[in-house]
Amino acid sequence: MKIFKTLAGAVALTGLMAGSALAADMTVGFSQIGSESGWRAAETTLTKEQAEKRGIDLKFADAQQKQENQIKAIRSFIAQGVDAILLAPVVATGWDQVLEEAKDAEIPVVLLDRQVDSSDDLYLTAVGSDLEHEGEVAGQWLVDNVGDKDCNVVELQGTTGSSPAIKRKAGFEKAISGHDNIEIVRSQTGDFTRTKGKEVMESFLKAENGGKDICALYAHNDDMAVGAIQAIKEAGLKPGSDILVVSIDAVPDIFLAMAAGEANATVELTPNMAGPAFDALEAYKNDGTMPPKFIQTESKLFTQSDDPKAVYEEKKNQGY
Ligand code: AHR
Repeated sequence: MKIFKTLAGAVALTGLMAGSALAADMTVGFSQIGSESGWRAAETTLTKEQAEKRGIDLKFADAQQKQENQIKAIRSFIAQGVDAILLAPVVATGWDQVLEEAKDAEIPVVLLDRQVDSSDDLYLTAVGSDLEHEGEVAGQWLVDNVGDKDCNVVELQGTTGSSPAIKRKAGFEKAISGHDNIEIVRSQTGDFTRTKGKEVMESFLKAENGGKDICALYAHNDDMAVGAIQAIKEAGLKPGSDILVVSIDAVPDIFLAMAAGEANATVELTPNMAGPAFDALEAYKNDGTMPPKFIQTESKLFTQSDDPKAVYEEKKNQGY
């Protein structure tokens, strides 16, 4: 049984054949978190581009990092009678009520990049990466690169209560568990921003003998790592060698840092969440095709040996 209205009836009535022909008739509301990182900016750009390419009327709402703004935006999309809603949820909890409201209005919701702790019958599908696996890949890189050496790690967490902060932390801890020589000695949120990443790294450096007692930085995203790299340099140390730097996202700037030997590894998160989301919505709207509950994107590890300059050149015009 379908839980949301579809346009299958409209197909029969109008005689439209191609799935994409219906996309032009779709109005989609997009509740975006904000613009905290280069990755987020790219996701916004690509979502707008994908909508335009498919003839989708996209209504965009920037929540400026506030869940209450996202809830307001969703209610406004419901009141406008949009055909579907894309939601990048800032935190994992507190969505049940508004998702129920969308379901009652028969408006399918697709989650982008972050996850919620609500029942999965409250949304159509979620497009994103395996967030815990990303943390594990980052942790495994460190395990493989420090060997038996004692290694004190400082961790810059993402936004408190967000699914990537929770899961990337868990994944990294899983990878280093059983390696008693590697220990997370300080861990604090840097809110996924460069400014906060730099600020918190400065406090880590002060607390850890000017940084001399730190072996590695694990940042839940590249922007925080880039801010922290600046702090490490200002403290008179060499990021990438005195302090190893591993992070997540694969934004262009981290490849510049890798090319300069100042960052060591990053795990790629594609900013094109909208492509698979619109594909799923179009199929669902056209003939009721139910997508899987989770559409997983790839997580690829990049290191200094992956020609970072060339990757930077490739990525620099991709909306970051
Ligand atoms: O939810 C994905 C995360 O959100 C990205 O890794 C980070 O950069 C961001 O803003």
